Amino acid sequence: MSNCLVTGGFGFVGRHLVRMLVERGDKVTVFDRVSTSPYLDDIKGRFNVKVGDFENMVHVTESVRDNDIDTIYHVGALIPPRSEWDSSFAFNANVLGTYHFLEAARMFGVKSFIYSSTTSTYSDGDRFIPDDYPQKPNTFYGTTKVCGERLGEAYWQHFGVNFRGIRYCIVNGPGRGGTTPGMFVVWTLQMAALGHPFKVFVDPDVEVASIYVKDAAKALIDINDADESRLTRRIYNSMSYTLTARDLVAVAKKHMPDADLTFRVNDEMMKKITSLSLDRVMDLEPARKDFDYKPSYDLDATMRDYIAECKAHRDLIDQPIPEF
Ligand SMILES: NC(=O)c1ccc[n+]([C@@H]2O[C@H](COP(=O)([O-])OP(=O)(O)OC[C@H]3O[C@@H](n4cnc5c(N)ncnc54)[C@H](O)[C@@H]3O)[C@@H](O)[C@H]2O)c1
Repeated sequence: MSNCLVTGGFGFVGRHLVRMLVERGDKVTVFDRVSTSPYLDDIKGRFNVKVGDFENMVHVTESVRDNDIDTIYHVGALIPPRSEWDSSFAFNANVLGTYHFLEAARMFGVKSFIYSSTTSTYSDGDRFIPDDYPQKPNTFYGTTKVCGERLGEAYWQHFGVNFRGIRYCIVNGPGRGGTTPGMFVVWTLQMAALGHPFKVFVDPDVEVASIYVKDAAKALIDINDADESRLTRRIYNSMSYTLTARDLVAVAKKHMPDADLTFRVNDEMMKKITSLSLDRVMDLEPARKDFDYKPSYDLDATMRDYIAECKAHRDLIDQPIPEF
């Protein structure tokens, strides 16, 4: 049994990770700016909560020291779109915050430090992204996450902190918040599962790489459990599938034949999505070879789980979404 700190444990990926860790018998402390998530109400007596801010070194060190933490899952971050206009918040949360948790890991001899990064750390360009592809991000967010990766590697090289990480592409799952262009993936499946109409705002041929949120959370546990002697790098790419908007509509209609999904292309969203190169295919070979990486949810399984989750948590998931 591990004694885990999950930063950002009340966020989208974090709350799935917290549930998985609690269910496998680990002791969990959530560190977040907010004090709760309604998605975890059913297990709220089974983990600790530390409300604090990543940029506050006292909050960070106390959370690690007072809870005798041996594993830090550093999942919390400021993500787009806010990261692109609130650079101070993004720098403090993503760069300073990561430094604080790494320093706490060094000070208190934490056994492993698991980091969630992003494929937004790569530069534009090629369709296939080998693991060693240059990281020259074109967003403020991507820049702060590259900093986090390099800080982690430096703490590993200089101080022996057992830093490991996973880079995600678009993480999709019911109940995800946000207004980024990639949200068409979530809303197409979610609105169909809820039985609501949705106008998909991108061209049917628009393609993106994505991963289901339960696979994203599980990958962090898998890299933590991986055998050190097999690891050839500290950070690995992950993804489950590439899909077009047309594929999404097809799978949604296969499982929900009455789904009212139509296309109404929004030029501004199309421009944004093209500029983000979200269709890049990640090199998964190193992850497969080094820790047998294999996501469980293909597109069919993803849609089935949207339907199950929307049934189980309809009151939380069925919220108004913006129209584009
Ligand atoms: N969602 C995606 O598509 C995606 C893609 C690639 C990478 N990632 C990475 O996955 C991780 C999780 O993303 P998510 O989608 O769950 O984000 P999220 O916004 O849903 O959750 C982030 C959590 O971190 C907390 N947090 C943020 N700043 C904080 C601070 N300064 N102090 C304390 N708590 C703070 C928030 O309160 C929130 O609960 C992030 O590291 C992100 O960079 C996400």
